[in-house]
Amino acid sequence: MPFRGFKLRVEAALDRVLPAADSGPGRLHEAMRYVSLDGGKRIRAMLVYGAGQAVDANSDVLDIPACAVELIHAYSLVHDDLPAMDNDTLRRGKPTCHIAYDDATAILVGDGLQSLAFEILASPAFNTVPVELRLQMVFELGRAAGHAGMVGGQVRDIAAEGSSLTLEQLNALHRGKTGALIRAAVVLGVLCGGRRDPDTLNPLKQYAEQIGLAFQIIDDILDEESDVDTLGKHSGVDRVLSKATYPSTLGLEASRQMARRCHAQALVALEKLDADTHILRDIADLVVDRQF
Ligand code: IPE
Ligand code: IPE
Ligand code: MG
Ligand code: MG
Ligand code: MG
Repeated sequence: MPFRGFKLRVEAALDRVLPAADSGPGRLHEAMRYVSLDGGKRIRAMLVYGAGQAVDANSDVLDIPACAVELIHAYSLVHDDLPAMDNDTLRRGKPTCHIAYDDATAILVGDGLQSLAFEILASPAFNTVPVELRLQMVFELGRAAGHAGMVGGQVRDIAAEGSSLTLEQLNALHRGKTGALIRAAVVLGVLCGGRRDPDTLNPLKQYAEQIGLAFQIIDDILDEESDVDTLGKHSGVDRVLSKATYPSTLGLEASRQMARRCHAQALVALEKLDADTHILRDIADLVVDRQF
C-alpha cells in the first residue's frame, strides 16, 4: 500500500513550497510551517495522488495540487480551533496555533496558507500543467473552499450549535464543511491527467461525495468514542459545544451503518470506471476503518 510514500512525498513538497522560517516575517513563516508540516493523515493529498494515478497523470504534476489542498485544509483547522470557533487547544498532538503563538498570528497564518495554496496552483513555476487546466484547478479549489463549500459548511456548523437538524440538513452541512474539499482533491487529481470528460469525472465525483460524507461521520463517531492520545486532538468536543453531528442525530450504531453504506456506494461508483482504482479503494477503506 503506497500510503506512506504519498505522505512522505507531500511532506517534502510542502517543505519546498512553504516560506523559509528564517526569512521575514519569521514568526508568520515559522507558524505556517508549524501547522502544515509533520502531522496529519494527509488523506486529501492521498486522494489527489490516487485520482491522478487512476487517470494516468504524471506523478510529478500531482505534488502541487496535493500541497494546495493540504494547505487549505491546514488553514481550515487553524481557524476551526480558534476561540471564536471550536476553541480547541490541541491539534495533531501539538498545541493549536493560537496557543503556541497567539490569536492574531493564527488568523494570519490561515490567511497566508490560503493565499499560498492559490499562488502555487496558478504559478507556472510550480504547476506545470497547461494554463487552462491550472485555471480550472483554481476555480475548483476556490469554489470548494469558499461560501459554497467549506466556509459555508463551517457557518452552518456554528449556526446549528444547540439545535437538532434533520438528516438532510446535516448532510448538506457536512457536504460543505468536509465534503467539498475532499471532492476538490479528487477533481484536481483527475485534471492533472488532462481529463475533463463526464464519463471519467462523474463516477469519481460520486466516489468523492460518498467518501466525504463517510469521513465526517467517522470524525463525529471518533469525537464521541475515542480519546486524546489516539486522536492527537481532544475528544468529546462536539458534545461540549452541542454540535449537530451524526451520532447526535442518528445515534452511534446508525451512524456506523451510514458510513458503511457510503463506503459501499463509493466502491460502486468506482466500478463504473475502466481504470486502475485500487488506490482509491484502499483510501475508501482507510476513511471508514481509521482509528484517528
Ligand atoms: C479533521 O480532518 C477535520 C475534518 C474535516 C473532520 P483530518 O482528520 O483529515 O485531519 P488531519 O489532517 O489528519 O489532522
Ligand atoms: C472541522 O470539523 C472541519 C473543517 C472545515 C476544519 P470539526 O470541527 O469536526 O474538525 P475537528 O474535529 O476539530 O478536527
Ligand atoms: Mg468545527
Ligand atoms: Mg473542530
Ligand atoms: Mg470533529
